[in-house]
Parts: sequence; structure tokens; C-alpha cells
Amino acid sequence: MKKKLVVATNNAHKLEEIAAILGDEMELLSLKDIECFADIPETADTLEGNARQKAMYIYENYGMDCFADDTGLEVEALNGAPGVFSARYAGDGHDSEANMQKLLQELKGKENRKAQFRTAICLILHGEEHLFEGIVKGEIIEEKRGGAGFGYDPIFVPEGYDLTFAELGNDIKNTISHRFRAVEKLCQFLKG
Ligand code: IMP
Repeated sequence: MKKKLVVATNNAHKLEEIAAILGDEMELLSLKDIECFADIPETADTLEGNARQKAMYIYENYGMDCFADDTGLEVEALNGAPGVFSARYAGDGHDSEANMQKLLQELKGKENRKAQFRTAICLILHGEEHLFEGIVKGEIIEEKRGGAGFGYDPIFVPEGYDLTFAELGNDIKNTISHRFRAVEKLCQFLKG
């Protein structure tokens, strides 16, 4: 029988992406699959802390192997902000448009527009904790471009490209993204 692994998400796209990299190795379960409908706390002040908090919640309440991720956009000229606050940079509304406008405003006139997306994954396997990280470096442009993706995609151009994530589209984005890189490390570990 295949080993079961809970992914602390209900995002079908994330599950698919991970399943595609992991192959038949394990059976992935979403929060819904284990009938977890709680609002899992995410109150740490780092990406790793939030990932650990979410994964621990599942392990402690359901006693299952699991992993959770957390992602942030870290802007060099803003000392790493919005970072762990990326989803609610412009307020609790989780409004991507408002978040992008706030970021563009903060960077107005600044020459250094270097930024990176960073994903932290915490895996709890047989009660032991393992951390994985995925980074994609790039820069923040001055105006939005492109219609694909989500979040800050329209203002982020990854290194080595002239197009934003929102212009590149998911097929390309998903082979170079922070999340892909972190998930790939996780999968290598699980397969190894
Ligand atoms: P989460 O941890 O995956 O929920 O990501 C937290 C926040 O970071 C999201 O609400 C987005 O604002 C931003 N974010 C995460 N991943 C991406 C991405 O791939 N593109 C653009 N923004 C992202």
C-alpha cells in the first residue's frame, strides 16, 4: 500500500503540481480529504515558522505525516518586505491589486528593484521535521504587465527573462518558480 502524506492545503493546483513531480511514490491527501476544516493558525514571523506551525497542527491533531508551505516576496531595497506579510501587505483584505500598488509606491524612485520569491516547506515525517527552500530571483518592474498567474506575478520579472511571471504564463512559471524549486527538493528527499 502506498504511504499517505497530507499536504496542508485545499488548493487543487498545488496538489496537482506536487503529484506531478512526485509521481506514484505516495498518496497525497488534502485537508478536505482528512476532514480538517479548521482555520489553521499562521501567526509566526517567518516563512519557515508559518510552514512549521501549519505542519505541526496537522501532525499533532491527526498524527499523520504531512507538509505545509509558506511563500513571500522579499524586496532588497525594503529589507526583505513584504516577506511573510506578502498576502496582507496592504491590509487584511488579501487584495493582490492593492498589495501591488503599495509595493510600486514604496519602490517609487528607488534604483535597486531586486527581489526574490521564497517558498519554505516544512515536512514532518515519522515525527521528525525537515525544511526545504525554493528561491527565484528577479526584479520588480514599474508597471503591471500580463494577465496570467496571481498575486505579484504582473510586476515580477524573473532573472534571465524579459517577461513578467504573468506574461510568461503558468507552463513556464511552474518550471522555474520558487514553489517548484522547493517542491522539487522535497520530492527528491522523499524519493531518496
Ligand atoms: P502562500 O504562502 O502560497 O499563500 O503565498 C502568500 C502570498 O505570497 C500570496 O497571497 C501572494 O500574495 C504571494 N505569492 C505567493 N506565491 C506567489 C506567486 O507564485 N506569484 C505571485 N505572488 C505569490
